[in-house]
Amino acid sequence: MAKTPKIIPIETVMTDGPQHVAIIMDGNGRWAQARGRPRLFGHHAGAKRVREVVEACPDLGVKYLTIFAFSTENWKRTQTEVAGLMSLFRLYIAKETRALAKHGTRVRFIGDRMRLDRKLIDLMDNLEKETAKNDRVHLTIALNYGGRDEVARATRRLAQDVADGKLQPDNVDEETLPRYLDTHVLPDPDLVIRTSGEARISGFLLWQSAYSEYEFIDTLWPDFTAEELGELVVNFRTRDRRFGAVAE
Ligand code: IPE
Ligand code: IPE
Ligand code: MG
Repeated sequence: MAKTPKIIPIETVMTDGPQHVAIIMDGNGRWAQARGRPRLFGHHAGAKRVREVVEACPDLGVKYLTIFAFSTENWKRTQTEVAGLMSLFRLYIAKETRALAKHGTRVRFIGDRMRLDRKLIDLMDNLEKETAKNDRVHLTIALNYGGRDEVARATRRLAQDVADGKLQPDNVDEETLPRYLDTHVLPDPDLVIRTSGEARISGFLLWQSAYSEYEFIDTLWPDFTAEELGELVVNFRTRDRRFGAVAE
C-alpha cells in the first residue's frame, strides 16, 4: 500500500522558532584551567549558568531545552572528576528543585540510568515527579547519555517487541523507531548549540538532529549567557530550512 505523504502542519511552517534548542555544554575544564583551578571548579561554574538559560527560554519562544550534562564516554575521565561530577549532579538537583518547580519548568532526564548510583536516580525520579505538571519550559537533561547507546537500547526494546509478536518487521519505519528512543515525547531539536569551539557532536541526539541547524561558538560554557542564547535564537530565524526540498 502506498504511504500517505506526510503533511506538515501550517503552524510548523509559519513559526519563527526555534521551538526546541539543545546545548552541548562544553568547555568547563578549559575555563577552570585558564584560571589555574581544578576542572571541577569549572563544572560548578557551568552548573550555575543553567538557571539563567532555562529562565530565558519563555521570552525567546523556546518551549524545549535539552542540555548535555554527562556522556556515556565521560566515564573515561579520572575517578576524581567522575565522582566530583556525580556529586555535583546530586547537589544541583537538591538545590535547584524548588527554583525549577517555581519557574514552571518540567524536567526530564534522558540517558541510561542503570549505571548511576541509587541516590542520584532517586533524586532524578523525584525531580521529574515534582515538576510533572509544569508546562512553561520542558528541560531535558542528558545524563549518562550517548546517541549510539540510545539507538542500541532502543533497538534492543524494538527487537524484543518483534520477538513477542507485538511489532511486525515490515512496520519498522521512520515513525516507529523514534518511539523507542529516550526522547519519544519530545520534538526534534531545531537548533543545536555547542560551546567551546569544538565542531563535533560527540554523539548528542544522533537520530533526532538529522535536520537541526548547528551553532558552534567559541564561548566556554561557564561564560555563556541568556543574552548570547538570544542572539543565536535570532540568528536561527534567518536560516532557510529546506528539509531536502527546493526553496520557493
Ligand atoms: C563539559 O566540559 C562538561 C562535561 C563533559 C561533563 P568539559 O569537562 O568537557 O570541558 P573541556 O572540554 O575539557 O574544556
Ligand atoms: C560532550 O563533551 C559531552 C558533554 C558536554 C556532556 P566532551 O568534552 O565529553 O566531548 P569530546 O570528548 O570533546 O568529544
Ligand atoms: Mg569537553
